Formats: sequence, structure tokens, C-alpha cells
Amino acid sequence: MDLRVKRAARIDIEITVPGDKSISHRAVIIAALSNGVCTLHGFLPSEDCMHTVNAMRALGIKIEQPEPTTLIVHGKKRVLTAPQKEINCGNSGTTMRLLAGLLAGQTFESRLVGDAGLSRRPMDRVIAPLCEMGASIVAEGPDETPPLRIRGGSLRGIHYRPPVASAQVKGALLLAGLFARGKTTVEEPIPTRNHMEKIFNYFLVRTAAEDGGSVTVFGDQVPESRDFAIPGDISSAAFWLVAAAAQRRGHLLIRDVGLNDTRTALLAVLLRMGAQVREAVEDVDQLEPRGIVEVTGFPLKGTVIQGKEVPQLIDELPILSVAGALANGKTIVRHAEELRVKETDRIAAIAHNLRAMGAQVSELTDGLEIHGPAPLHAARLASFGDHRIAMAFAIAGLFADGETIVQDAECIRESYPGFETVLEEFTNPKRMQVSTPVIGSLTPTPPEER
Ligand code: S3P
Repeated sequence: MDLRVKRAARIDIEITVPGDKSISHRAVIIAALSNGVCTLHGFLPSEDCMHTVNAMRALGIKIEQPEPTTLIVHGKKRVLTAPQKEINCGNSGTTMRLLAGLLAGQTFESRLVGDAGLSRRPMDRVIAPLCEMGASIVAEGPDETPPLRIRGGSLRGIHYRPPVASAQVKGALLLAGLFARGKTTVEEPIPTRNHMEKIFNYFLVRTAAEDGGSVTVFGDQVPESRDFAIPGDISSAAFWLVAAAAQRRGHLLIRDVGLNDTRTALLAVLLRMGAQVREAVEDVDQLEPRGIVEVTGFPLKGTVIQGKEVPQLIDELPILSVAGALANGKTIVRHAEELRVKETDRIAAIAHNLRAMGAQVSELTDGLEIHGPAPLHAARLASFGDHRIAMAFAIAGLFADGETIVQDAECIRESYPGFETVLEEFTNPKRMQVSTPVIGSLTPTPPEER
């Protein structure tokens, strides 16, 4: 499918975004392990998350979906049954890595397969520690790539320091730890999103967090069933936030979005690039903080993104690179070599597409150097089968002369069903819902008028 994008209208709009992908995956799994029926509201019915739902069904869990965003999960007190056939994880790395952890603790044998893209992604990062815990996992592809054949064992807890900062690895080990003897500790080199820890706590699974970033789960616990509502995904919001930030006087309000502070580094970056950004947490009673984000656009300036910030905005780097191309001066992204093993090599894909639109960009081994501002011109662009590349360059198209075409854009459904409808609103002035600033009373003044 080709996605065609025209230049943006004046942005003044209020939206919501679909449920958080990371939380949706984890919620289904923990609810399935719990001791009763859990209703999950705000679930993200994207292709990736549906692979997790179908995997849990294949493991004997009844999951009803009375409407796309509501799941009723019938927890079976950690009892899973052997799947009849291989489990298909599609393009979802989170599904495969979290399931590897879950299945490592089961006594039956299972096989996880993925599509061509997922079959190229490294799995040694979960295989090595799970085998150290006592599982037997064989990667059938070259260089420890999928399919994975997993024979679960009687696991023992370990203390593990992953060589890469990865929430998927942490999540896999914590899930395995639930089925292990003793305690399992993950000592992260750099903190990553903490949704698994939060969900464990919410479902009354005992964990311990230690200074310096380690998290421990104690084995042999059954999660207490709970209902909850999943907030909007700030990584999906990121596309619209950048669009508004990059348009002078653009104004965007997003309600009911997740504001977990391990996910909001993007807001700090937009602020330092010169946008006006406000956030207000409205609800902390629920499992995850949620609230409003409001952005007003100003001429952006380049920035440096590196070090500890990188794992906290790893999924936002494609769209922040587009922001960099629109900003004055140099934007540098470093320490982001993980981007090379995402749904595609995102460093190469970003550089390729930005150049096709006329931007000046150098590829680094671990990031990018982008010289802005570029007068972007419309181009025919590849998605590389990567949802975040497709969406980032649809947003770039809002700032280009002419009609930009993003090819093979159906991959957007993996994380953001409905993206195209919102995109259409950003190009059609009549459909904008004019909103007034809501957070704080100040009406922003562009810097040159101050
Ligand atoms: C995710 C973790 C991140 C992120 C992915 C979702 C998760 O991957 O890029 O989109 O839900 O745990 P890594 O753990 O590989 O960094």
C-alpha cells in the first residue's frame, strides 16, 4: 500500500492515540497468568499485539475481545497448555522475546517463528540468560536468529547484567523468573522502560528494585487478577508531537496518553530543540501515570541525543531525526547502534530517506549526523517494512513540497491502526478542531516576537 502525504495545514488540533504497545503485550501475558478474570480497557488492537493475544490463546488461555480495545482475559493461575503447533510472532520482536521468557519456564516444548523481518533479528540476548537459568533454547536460523525451539525446564533464578539495555530482555527474564526457584535479578546497564515491573506490582507480584537500576522478582508467585485501563502510547503520540513542534505556531493537545517517566525523554528533547512542551499527569491511581501533553511549535534548533537518553527514546529516534532535518543547525544521534537491529536497520533507512528528500545527513556506526534545516522535497520513499520508518517519513511528507509517497506502508498496522486517518486531519484544515492552550494560562509567544 502506498501512503500519499500532502503538506500540512496549520496544525491546531486535539487528539488521542491508541493504547500503549509495550503495556498491551505485557498486560495480556500477566492477566493470562493471574488467578482470575481480568478486563483490559484501552488495549492496542495492532498486528503486533494481536500476535501476543493469539499466542496466549494457543497456550490455552481464553481471551474474549467484545470490542477491538477491550480484552477479557481468563487467567489460569499460571497453568499453560502445550500449543498444537508453532507459535507465529509475525514481525513482533516484543512478542517473541517475552514469550521466550515465558516458555522457558514451561515443561512442554514449543517453537516460535516470525516473518522474514523478525527472522533476521538477534535472539542471543534472550537465549544466553534463559539457558543459564536452565532452559534449552535452540535458534534454528543463522547467528542465533529465529525460529526458536524452546524446551522449558525447572529454572533457577540468576543475577544477570545484559550487555545491551533492552526492556524486552529484562521483561523476558522477569517472566522466566516468575517460574524459577529463588530470585531472578536483572541489573540493567542503562535503565529502560519499566512496564513489566509496574505490572508485576499492580498484580501484587513481589519484586524489589535496588539502587543502581537492578530489579528482582521472586519465583513461584501467582499474579492477583485485576482490571485496568491502558493509556495511549507516547511513542505513537511522538509523530504528531514532532509535527506540531516543527510547525511555527503549530498547536497540539493529546489527552489520555501514558506519561511514565521512562518513556517521556522525547518531551525533554523537543523542549531543548525550542518547542514549548507541557505535560500534566492527571491520573496516578492506575497502574501507569497518564495525562495530557501539549506542544506549541517554534523554529527548532539542532540537538545532541546520546548516552542514557537513548534507551528511553529508542523508538522515537526515527521521528526525532526528521525533526533534526527540519531544525536549524546540527542534530547528532550517538550510542544508538541498537537501531541497526530493529524492524530494519533504522540508521541506514533514516539516512536513505532523508537524503531522498534533500536533507544533508551522515551515517555514523552508532547514529546519525543531520545538518538542518533542509527544504524537504517530496519523494517516493521506502518503508523498509518498518512501521516507525513509514510513520516518521509520512510526517516528513507534511513538511515537503509536493506529494510524498511512502511505499509498503501497511506495516503501520503493526503498532498504529488508524494512523492514516489522523494524518489526513493534519493535511485538511477543515477537519482541524481548533483548541486553546489548556495546560497553564500563558499563550505562547514565538521567540522573535518576545
Ligand atoms: C520494547 C522495547 C524496545 C522497543 C520496542 C518495545 C518493549 O525494544 O524498541 O519497540 O516493549 O519492551 P528493546 O528492548 O529491544 O530495546
